[in-house]
Amino acid sequence: MSREPMNLVTFLARAGVGSRRSCDELVRSGAVTVNGETVTFPRQKVAEGDTVAVNGDPVALRDVRYVLVNKPRGVASTRSDPHAERVIVDLVPDGRTLFPVGRLDVDTTGLIVLTNDGVLANRLMHPRYGVPKTYRVRVHGKVTRRALASLREGVVLEDGVTAPADVELRKQSAKTALLDVTIHEGRKRQVRRMFEALGLPVEELHRRRYGPLSDKGLAVGEHRGLSTDEVDALRRAGEDADRAMAAEVEGDPLPLAATDAAGGPSGASGDGAA
Ligand code: URA
Repeated sequence: MSREPMNLVTFLARAGVGSRRSCDELVRSGAVTVNGETVTFPRQKVAEGDTVAVNGDPVALRDVRYVLVNKPRGVASTRSDPHAERVIVDLVPDGRTLFPVGRLDVDTTGLIVLTNDGVLANRLMHPRYGVPKTYRVRVHGKVTRRALASLREGVVLEDGVTAPADVELRKQSAKTALLDVTIHEGRKRQVRRMFEALGLPVEELHRRRYGPLSDKGLAVGEHRGLSTDEVDALRRAGEDADRAMAAEVEGDPLPLAATDAAGGPSGASGDGAA
């Protein structure tokens, strides 16, 4: 089936090169050729059969899917798990061709993205500079000012001190408290361990936001495809993570955009439940 011509930035974004913003910059910088000619106009039309290259490397459109799932309890967020009754990819038609971006514990509910776009998944799952993730947490006990300060400053865990979290205490009743907690890291069982370390066992955990995505309008157990704008927002979030990582490597507080064209999901080590 033939396809409609599309503008160069759209082509590059759909080829997985980066967000529309970074692809726009790439074109303007003169790194992109169409049929061997440098093109610096981001909205130049690209027709079927045209050859597009970035820094001399040909790029092609990919058949990628992005699905947002609001995971119920009792479902493992892996592709296969002999111990789990259900795995997340089975909640989505043809889901076995996708993989989950990061993990949620079996008992945790909430948002998780399924995709076959390994480049984006790798960026989003960076263990220390992942996208922000917001959890609604119900804990047993009284949340003191000191506990709130610890969460905001960093909690000592066996794998190191956590990065500062954004925390809002929404409700404290006799035995339990309800909080919203946003973290950027992706360590295994991180939120549960942070509260356990403060003597506050987690009774319920739900991921309400994943980067730019929220669970509004998506009930637990439901799923939906992401819009083009949402995928682009996710790509931007992934690029922000890349920049933060580059800043640390370079020791440069205001780094230029880093582009990463390599790798698949297996390269990411930050796929713990966080
Ligand atoms: N933190 C946890 O402890 N568990 C999750 O499922 C997600 C974040």
